[in-house]
Amino acid sequence: MKIISFSSIPSTNSYCAENIDTLHDEDIIIARIQTSGRGRKERSWSSKEGGLYFSLVLKEGLNLLSAPGVLTQLMALAVCKTVKDLGVKAYIKWPNDVLGGGRKFCGILSEAIFEEAALKAVVIGVGINLSQSDICSDKPFITLKDLGVDIKPEVLLKQVFDNFKANLLLLKKDGFKALREEYKNNFAYLGQQVTMRIFEDIVTGTAKDIDEEGRLLLLTDSGLKTISIGDMDF
Ligand code: BTN
Repeated sequence: MKIISFSSIPSTNSYCAENIDTLHDEDIIIARIQTSGRGRKERSWSSKEGGLYFSLVLKEGLNLLSAPGVLTQLMALAVCKTVKDLGVKAYIKWPNDVLGGGRKFCGILSEAIFEEAALKAVVIGVGINLSQSDICSDKPFITLKDLGVDIKPEVLLKQVFDNFKANLLLLKKDGFKALREEYKNNFAYLGQQVTMRIFEDIVTGTAKDIDEEGRLLLLTDSGLKTISIGDMDF
């Protein structure tokens, strides 16, 4: 495992994809600034100074993992635990946004890299807003500084990585069910009415549970739906 640091780079996820053959399991790419930071759904991710931007490469044991969806949830859990230990009332919005005070401060973009049909690596990209306050976004955002935490990016990275590693060991041993209760305890919407976007569909229902594979169980007018892809962020 090694950490490769850049002061400025287009995107740590893109770097990993472009250099995947020379990177090893658990290598981390970190940047002070990203000039073309990428978010989910081909959105851009504002990445000026004042954030933690990193990508973690996973190459080993991928056949045991239902990558990359569950890995993303594991990382959300690691971030949530880390900032809670720092005193923030953080929580997860399924599957993988981390919020405080009703606003997002962390986004995660996991990307699978294939060679022919075989899964070669998963890159888990994490952006945490530490103090970047001038973001152009239609979504409400918040900084860790707003939430009372002043921490250096590299210190936060180490704590997040340690927590992720602990989660990964549990996952490899017993699957997501080993983390299910902790995930549920950090998922703030259980029992609440939520609206999901699932591809082109909008579905409303009550968030009933998270199952042993990390999927959301949503009780809708047409019955209980098991949702593995979708998001609540609109
Ligand atoms: C989201 O849309 O919520 C996901 C945002 C992910 C941003 C991180 S920052 C580090 C890594 N490199 C990127 O280009 N994106 C991810």
